[in-house]
Amino acid sequence: MANEAATLTPLGAEIWIADGPVIDFYRIPFPTRMTVIRLASGDLFLHSPIAFSAGLAAELDALGPVRHLVSPNWIHYAYIGDWAARYPDAICWASPGVRDRAASRGVEIAFDRDLGDDAAGDWAGDIDQLIVHGSKAHTEVVFFHRKSRTLVLTDLIENMHAGDLPRWVRPLARLGGILAPNGKMPLDIWMSFAGNRDKLRAALARMLDWQPDIVVLAHGDILRENVPQRLREGFRGLSPTGHSH
Ligand SMILES: [Fe+2]
Repeated sequence: MANEAATLTPLGAEIWIADGPVIDFYRIPFPTRMTVIRLASGDLFLHSPIAFSAGLAAELDALGPVRHLVSPNWIHYAYIGDWAARYPDAICWASPGVRDRAASRGVEIAFDRDLGDDAAGDWAGDIDQLIVHGSKAHTEVVFFHRKSRTLVLTDLIENMHAGDLPRWVRPLARLGGILAPNGKMPLDIWMSFAGNRDKLRAALARMLDWQPDIVVLAHGDILRENVPQRLREGFRGLSPTGHSH
């Protein structure tokens, strides 16, 4: 998983992933993943860019112009500045809270625009979008690429292999509910929606309405089988609005 080895893998029609280096987050090693979508315009949409490498950039250049550098939530922004430096014409998109978070860490990123509750006009023809509101701790922007029927999540569901984690982390990961093949919303994020589960429910209902065939996660195994059921499990058995009993 060395960065030099990061390479694009096709996931479906006009969509690719690249798995990047493992990063240290509060001393816990997290595998990282970028999702790349080529819009009908030909422009590339980079969701949660991983560490820059010349090899990866060359692969992207062969696909089209790198246009959108997207931070999907307040803790996924680390490499956007590096990509922006190499692609000065690209637009840096801020998620809710990311400007303050990056600034508080001394990371200077010139975010150009803010992601909203609706898809930006730049990609509304290709990608649906929503912001999952209701948590004081974690606000994430979720995307659905229609052509490949791919839902792109970041941290809302994690599905990591115990064997990829150091031994001391495994009990924590199990407790947090983030181990494959049954990885879920991390417990701390789930708790942060307490009192606002209706908002999470509404967001889940929209995701299910999109009828995704595949769910990309930033950390861990992609969900490819029984997606509606896995999505409901991922959201900890929450009954989506309109389907509740
Ligand atoms: Fe993450």
